[in-house]
Amino acid sequence: MSSYDSISSQLDDAGEARSSGADKIAWARSHMPILAAIRERVENERPLEGWTVGMAMHVEAKTAVLTETLAAAGASVAITGCNPLSTHDDVSAALDAVDGVTCYAKRGVDESEYYAAIDAVIEAGPEVTIDDGGDLVFRLHEHYPERLSDVIGGCEETTTGVHRLRAMAADGALEYPMIAVNDTPMKQLFDNIHGTGESSLASIAMTTNLSWAGSTVVVAGYGHCGKGVAKKAAGQNARVIVTEVEPRRALEAHMEGFEVMPMVDAAAEGDLFLTTTGNRDVITLDVFREMQDGAVLANAGHFDIEIDLEGLAEYAVDSRAVRDGITAYRLPDGREVNVLAEGRLVNLATPVALGHAIEVMDQSFGVQAACAEELVANHGSYESGVHPVPDELDRHIAEIKLAAEGIEHDELSPTQREYLDRWDHGT
Ligand code: NAI
Repeated sequence: MSSYDSISSQLDDAGEARSSGADKIAWARSHMPILAAIRERVENERPLEGWTVGMAMHVEAKTAVLTETLAAAGASVAITGCNPLSTHDDVSAALDAVDGVTCYAKRGVDESEYYAAIDAVIEAGPEVTIDDGGDLVFRLHEHYPERLSDVIGGCEETTTGVHRLRAMAADGALEYPMIAVNDTPMKQLFDNIHGTGESSLASIAMTTNLSWAGSTVVVAGYGHCGKGVAKKAAGQNARVIVTEVEPRRALEAHMEGFEVMPMVDAAAEGDLFLTTTGNRDVITLDVFREMQDGAVLANAGHFDIEIDLEGLAEYAVDSRAVRDGITAYRLPDGREVNVLAEGRLVNLATPVALGHAIEVMDQSFGVQAACAEELVANHGSYESGVHPVPDELDRHIAEIKLAAEGIEHDELSPTQREYLDRWDHGT
């Protein structure tokens, strides 16, 4: 039994929170046809009956629909957040009331509460883990090595988490199989690109009430997330500058019509800076020094280390909250720069943030649900290490979505299939 209380015992008015959270979950559920199709099947088949699933994810409405789907499949689920600012407390309370689910996530926790909640999930005895960023997997390995043999496998939702797992596997430190959900087409081509692009821009616009049209936006990183953000900002008539460290990605950005330059040169140009690198120290003191008065800084990468906030706090003479979710730092010469959501994931951590669009998360979470089932069904066949999502499973999720949208598509003919499999025919 955990010493950390579930969310329902932490809120003053849990009943009211549960009701508003349940409405948000119902709205999300009604726009998630993939999870609905999976739920309809697993409610009868109960493939996760008797298994315990531990989750550390952004606890908001779409995640709640994934969680209740796993519970409907028979799992006992313990869940907490994967970021101190991204939890919606009402959704968390409503989720805690679902049969088979215990939820520990709360918005605005400090570091010790954050890890106490992760510990509570671990103390529930997960046999399958579902992570967004890897904190649950790493905590298990570092602090609960005696429990690792109970875990048959896990799934990782995001790029940063997969990087961490690969680094662990390379060091021989990863003790169970992990499926890299992030890397599969049904996740990466939609969630990272369109999801991050749309939801980051929406959250920034709602938080600042400033226009994209006519502004200069500096996007750091031209990976999946950066491409989405750059494209959507250009679509809103912003001038977009891209910064990159990888030459082919820099060239790709150039060929797609964006200006490319070093961050230190972009510093004086940008009205708004958005980091999407999954790396640290992307915007540092040399950049702050060159920025225009009023520049806005936001991060869409997983951790709050892309903007050097410690360096900024030291350099600044003053800082103050100027609007919900915006902190202004006054620099020694009187200029101010504005940081959104304390440098945390801007599409999830501003007070108005809703995260990715529901349809996009239906795809990512459809893959998550299918992978949890796959790990339980075939756990004997996965060794410790990082594994791709099985391709047929990824395709199956795409087929469910296409059917739900009423979209038909062509099929390979037997002759075409044979042609593609052969190598012995030329001109
Ligand atoms: P990616 O690997 O496709 O792209 C990252 C890009 O950043 C690469 O092209 C890399 O060369 C570049 N980069 C690295 N260091 C840089 C630096 N110092 N300056 C400029 N560019 C640099 O990764 P992806 O999928 O785009 O993910 C990026 C981050 O976003 C990760 O932390 C990931 O976990 C997170 N993420 C956030 C989401 C959200 O909801 N906000 C959704 C999905 C991913």
